[in-house]
Amino acid sequence: MTQLGVVGGGTMGAGIAEIAIRAGDEVLVLERDQSAADAARGRIEKSLSRAVKKAKITEDEAERSLANLRLTTSLSDFGDRELVIEALPEIEDLKVGFFADLDKVTSPEAILATNTSSIPIIRIAKDVADPSRVVGVHFFNPVPVMPLVEIISSLASSPHAIETVTAYARDHLGKRTIQAGDRGGFVVNALLIPYLVSAIRMYESGYASKEDIDAGMVNGCAHPMGPLTLSDTVGLDVVLDVSESLYHEFREPHLAPPPLLQRMVEAGYLGKKTGRGFYDYS
Ligand code: CAA
Repeated sequence: MTQLGVVGGGTMGAGIAEIAIRAGDEVLVLERDQSAADAARGRIEKSLSRAVKKAKITEDEAERSLANLRLTTSLSDFGDRELVIEALPEIEDLKVGFFADLDKVTSPEAILATNTSSIPIIRIAKDVADPSRVVGVHFFNPVPVMPLVEIISSLASSPHAIETVTAYARDHLGKRTIQAGDRGGFVVNALLIPYLVSAIRMYESGYASKEDIDAGMVNGCAHPMGPLTLSDTVGLDVVLDVSESLYHEFREPHLAPPPLLQRMVEAGYLGKKTGRGFYDYS
């Protein structure tokens, strides 16, 4: 059993907290205020009910899992955490500032992990006194379903921290782990995001309809969902943030976010989570 801290109870944070409580960990989720904390609990409860309905777990297991969950709005409660996984929005300054604060309240032995999709780990660790305890642990959406976790070692990460989080994700949570170096996008997003933004550019240019672009990849390449549906699932704000971060890292034009993606995010069309993206989910 690990005393796990999860920072942020959005789509990714709630998913990480859910699989950890199901694995028997004592999990504390940090949110910015009470209504966000209530919403995070609601997400986890909804997903557990779905797992019960699908007969993946029993009612009893769902209840026992929920007993392992606590929410807080105070970072000072993280003093006893052995491992912290941060799942805040992909905003570099936010993560850097948060890790500086986290450094002050956690024990020096605690491992501090970020679920960043694309920001280099060493930049997030820059104001942590001992950056050897900072690593990347990147989950995939939906967290309870996708088997992969990328483990990212920065130039400063200690072998002990990397071995601990790898064993945690692989042996305790039952995920398939891969190791990646500290480059923007790591392995998966360095391949996936150029594909998603290419599909958005293709749609934006009027070259093919969104339905045909998606049908092409589902029926022609056996992908479970087409790139525009997948973008809606991941969240268009996340696709934009990762694309900007990759463009910043590599300066290659094909990585730059297409104007349509920027306009959709500015309009609040973020995909499934807001009910509207390339498709309507209301
Ligand atoms: N939570 C829990 N379980 C879920 C779920 C969720 N949000 N969504 C689907 N499932 C489960 C269902 O319960 C179902 O389980 P069973 O087969 O045991 O019944 C299974 O997943 C399949 O679901 P559905 O039949 O409802 O729908 P589907 O066949 O269309 O599958 C999907 C849904 C698993 C999401 C599938 O479409 C898929 O794999 N899509 C691609 C997802 C993907 O590529 N994710 C990576 C995104 S990139 C990322 O996350 C990284 C980043 O940094 C941007």
